[in-house]
Formats: sequence, C-alpha cells, structure tokens
Amino acid sequence: MKFNKICVLGLGYIGLPTASTFATSGLKVIGVDVNPSIVKGLQNGELHIYEPGLRTLVQAAIISNKLEISEQPQEADAFIIAVPTPFYGEKKADLSYVISAAEAILPHLRAGNLVVLESTSPPRTTIDILVPILEKSGLKAGVDFYVAYSPERVLPGQILRELIENARVIGGINPESAQAGHDLYKIFVKGKIITTTATTAEMVKLMENTYRDVNIAIANEFSRLAERFGVDVWEAIQIANLHPRVNILKPGPGVGGHCISVDPWFFVEAAPDLTPLIHTARQVNDSQPHFVVNKLETILNGLEGKTITVFGLAYKPDVDDLRESPAIEIVQLLSEKGAIVKAYEPFKPDYPLKHGSMVKTLEEALLGTDALALLVGHQQLRDLDPQDIQSKTECRILLDTVNGWDCAAWSEAGFDTYQLGVSRCD
Ligand SMILES: NC(=O)c1ccc[n+]([C@@H]2O[C@H](COP(=O)([O-])OP(=O)(O)OC[C@H]3O[C@@H](n4cnc5c(N)ncnc54)[C@H](O)[C@@H]3O)[C@@H](O)[C@H]2O)c1
Repeated sequence: MKFNKICVLGLGYIGLPTASTFATSGLKVIGVDVNPSIVKGLQNGELHIYEPGLRTLVQAAIISNKLEISEQPQEADAFIIAVPTPFYGEKKADLSYVISAAEAILPHLRAGNLVVLESTSPPRTTIDILVPILEKSGLKAGVDFYVAYSPERVLPGQILRELIENARVIGGINPESAQAGHDLYKIFVKGKIITTTATTAEMVKLMENTYRDVNIAIANEFSRLAERFGVDVWEAIQIANLHPRVNILKPGPGVGGHCISVDPWFFVEAAPDLTPLIHTARQVNDSQPHFVVNKLETILNGLEGKTITVFGLAYKPDVDDLRESPAIEIVQLLSEKGAIVKAYEPFKPDYPLKHGSMVKTLEEALLGTDALALLVGHQQLRDLDPQDIQSKTECRILLDTVNGWDCAAWSEAGFDTYQLGVSRCD
C-alpha cells in the first residue's frame, strides 16, 4: 500500500515524534491535537514537552511544509491514534480519548484507508471499541478499509532513536490490515517489523510492561528484606544477576510514569479472576512511597516540623515527565505527616506542586533543611559533589532511594548517609 498523506491524532510524547518522523521521511502529515494551546504553540515552533532532539525535528518538519498542525483531522491515506489511555477511579482504563479520536476520524474515513491505534489499550480494544465506531461510516473494516494496532515501546529520553531502531509489532484485524500497517511503518522503521493479530499486539504491549512491574515489585520487596537483615540490596542484586538466568531490576521509591504503573491494571480490570500476581505487584509498587516516607520518619525521629529537600520529582531520570510519579506521592505523604517539603526538579522547575514548594536553584534547595532525599537519579543530581554540597549546607542527613550517590564519598564529606535497601551506609 502507498501513503502520501497521513493524520496523526494526539501530539504528545508519542504522537509528536511519530508525526515529525513521518514528515521528515517525506510524507505529508497533519498533526492533530484537541488542546488549542498545544496546537498554537506548535504552529509557532514551540514545544510543550521535552525530548532530546525533538525541537529540531519538529521545526525542520514544519519549515519543510511537510508537517501541518491542526485541531481537526482531514482526509488522508492513514490515521494514527496516539492519545492518552490513563485510568480513572478504581484503576479502570479510560478509553474516552480513543473513542473521541475515532469519532473525529469518522467523517474523513474513505475506502482504502488505514487506521492504526498506537495508544496502550486493554485487550480487544481495537476489535471491540475502535472497529465498531469506524464502521459507522458504512464501510466494512478489513474489507473496505484496514485497521491495525501498533504499540509504541520507546524509552523517553531516547524516543527519536528508538522510534526508528526498535522492533515494531503490528497487529491487524486481518492479515491485509497487518500488511498495510507494515507498509506504513516501513517508511522509517529500521528495526524488525513483526505482524500479528491486533489482540496479540495489545497483549504484547501490556505483557512487556507488566513483566517489568512484577520484576520491580520483587526488587522492592528485596529492598525491604535487605534492610531487615542488614544487607545491601544493591550489592546483593548485582551478585544475583551474575547468575546467567537471573535479571532482577532495580528497587526504588516506587513505580511511576504513564506506562508501567498503569498498564498492568488493564489486565487486572479485564480479568480480575486471573491476575492475583499482577494485582499484588501493583500494590507492592504503589506502597513503596510509604516505605520511603517511613524510613525518613525513622531517620529523622519524626517528621512534624522537619524541613526535607527532595531532589527530583520526575518518574524516572533525565525526563521532564511527572505523570504518576512516586516522588510526587512521597512529597504529599511527607507533608501530610507535618514535614515542610522543598522540591528541586531541574527538568520542571515551575511544576505547580500542591503539597510543598518548588525551589529553582541548588542554593535554595540546600538552605535551612534537615534532610536531603534523592528520589530521581537525574544525571546532574548524581553528579553533585559531596564536598561542594557539604560546604553549601548545614544539613548533614541524606537518604538516597535510587543508588545514585556514592555512599562512602558522602559519608566522608560528613553526611549521615542512608540508602534505600541498606540498613545504613557507614
Ligand atoms: N510516553 C511514553 O513514553 C509512552 C510509551 C509507550 C506508549 N505510550 C502510550 O501512548 C499513548 C499516548 O501517550 P503520550 O505519552 O504521547 O500522551 P500525551 O498525554 O503526552 O499526549 C497525548 C495528546 O493527545 C491529545 N489528545 C487527547 N484527545 C485527543 C483527540 N481526541 N484527538 C487529538 N488529540 C487528542 C492530548 O491533548 C495530548 O496532547 C498512551 O496510550 C500511552 O500509554 C506512551
């Protein structure tokens, strides 16, 4: 199948790099978003998200007239849906964005078109939700037009490279749809393209993130056990991972982000009777912020009235994405226990933090505080020099929850150094 013009609905972390990469590969792309301020900003070359290299790519795509930003879809050869799929209330998948994107495509759908859902979705969403909406056009899915599901598996911070190099799964509602999807992504994907059914592709995406979530839950439980038994969990994991068939992931202050902390719930919701392990792993990871707060409470002999500076709020290192971040929950729990929290997040200094105050400089972060807590391993935070920090603050207590700081160096600089998963660094 040949493609000249495509429409990408949703211009966030996934849709914007995808739209720009198709445009710089020569296709005419209509990038659509329902948020007028995002549309206006992008039309002026201003980005609402940070991803290395993305600004240059978007600007190149816009200047070449290959990428047009709009609030409305248009007729095109293919439509890609990359809208959010968060959860709401009791961890139920919110498919309202997918539904409204599909409804927005409907008036523009023509025979021979391809529609691809990229949003992470519960099993059978493509067949049971997307197809019936599109068939309101009077066209028959799989016969008059093609429908596929293709999950995105890029790593934030590396999106532009991984978009091209990663293996890509394309699940069609029938083999012709999978082939059409293959032909579209072949335009820029250099990694292997695997075609399968739509529901398999949906399962694959959820299985990948669920596997990681369960593995991190084990690591988090190991961190708790290590503290109980006076062991350094980081050392123990490193040694265990020398076993050729063991690969334990890293513990931390919790699991956040738009994917790993959300996607397993889609399985739990879809089949609660079959998912006790997945459910429990979610609960373990969701309780890890409490574990960190309890540890700080013990270290500081109570939290009431104590000032605590947290380093990092993002859900993972070197990104500006704070969605579902455990660091935000830690701030909230600390302040609920009476602590005064200052947060230093160099990737999002203006974040409207509800339960504490943002500080914009390291100097402010270090002033008049009782404890420093490293919650995110941003490289620039890992690189902080203990001697330099020691000379800028009276604070002498720190907790590292991500194994980002060299315990011995911080202890040597005069800090009482604590680490998650270690009873105490000496
Ligand atoms: N961010 C990641 O690293 C990542 C990785 C893999 C998969 N995913 C999945 O990709 C999907 C998109 O995630 P994201 O991080 O890009 O989300 P995002 O929130 O960054 O961007 C989504 C955009 O869609 C827009 N939108 C909402 N409804 C719309 C509609 N009806 N029409 C057009 N635009 C609409 C929003 O305004 C927003 O700008 C989600 O399902 C997510 O789980 C994300």
